[in-house]
Amino acid sequence: MKYAILDGKMIERSEAKVDVEDRGYQFGDGVYEVIRVYNGKMFTVTEHLNRFVKSLESIGITLTFTMEQFTKLLEELVEKNNLQLGTIYMQITRGVAPRNHAFPTEDVRPSLVAYTKEAVRPLESLKTGVTTIVTEDIRWLRCDIKSLNLLGNLLAKQKAAEVGSYEAIQHRSLDVTEGSSSNIFIVKNGKVITHQSDNLILKGITKDVILQICARNNIVVEERTFTLNELFDADEVFLSSTTSEVMPIIEVDGKSVGDGFPGPITKSLQELFEQEIEKQCGALKDKILN
Ligand code: PDD
Repeated sequence: MKYAILDGKMIERSEAKVDVEDRGYQFGDGVYEVIRVYNGKMFTVTEHLNRFVKSLESIGITLTFTMEQFTKLLEELVEKNNLQLGTIYMQITRGVAPRNHAFPTEDVRPSLVAYTKEAVRPLESLKTGVTTIVTEDIRWLRCDIKSLNLLGNLLAKQKAAEVGSYEAIQHRSLDVTEGSSSNIFIVKNGKVITHQSDNLILKGITKDVILQICARNNIVVEERTFTLNELFDADEVFLSSTTSEVMPIIEVDGKSVGDGFPGPITKSLQELFEQEIEKQCGALKDKILN
């Protein structure tokens, strides 16, 4: 992708360089978002930007753009890069300052970076489902902030990758929290159960869309903590994220979920989720149930 945004300006991707004393680079002192683009249109952009502002506020960085300016800038980036199907990555760090843990006292300008990536939908996996492992959640206590500090998530995902699994499902003591880069749902006796959006998980935008879909379609939801036992005893399990959408999980730690195939509620949520994409971004060429 040819162009990127650096500090509000559209420049060539190869020209987008950061200073060695950028606090994001040194400390992970910043926050980020990933937005999905279908048919050249951003999906749930307002929700992502609202969460971005919330993350920024929670670490004391003020966004110097209005939401309208920001949305327009991202639209321009998508258009300039002629992105049809892919993602936008963006981050804001506290800026460049001499290395010191405490926030800089002088006026430091936050640095914004945004660029796009082409990415197809993971249609094969969406059809067949994926395997997962469980691992202890070793992260901090503000997982609601979409922070650049992702080492805990990275170590979890690496464990999954090393055994050829798609995702690592994290747990604190016996309670399941979330995936290394996704939210986790179980289905038991027709009820959808997922961790409440508190400080222990990221309030996923995809999760929120799914919860709205459930509400509109009379699918019963319980937002509460659930245990590893409930995970292993579930009829269906799925994960959600911007890039993975509604992804069936057919195996956890080598044990089959249900009969080992994507379950009926998961499949109907996939279909309803595709309808939501089409409502916002127009018709999808390839669909899961095609
Ligand atoms: N990850 N939980 C964690 C820890 C995540 O990193 C993500 C998303 C989610 C799902 O959030 P959403 O539905 O808003 O994408 C939950 C993104 C995609 C990433 O880091 O690439």
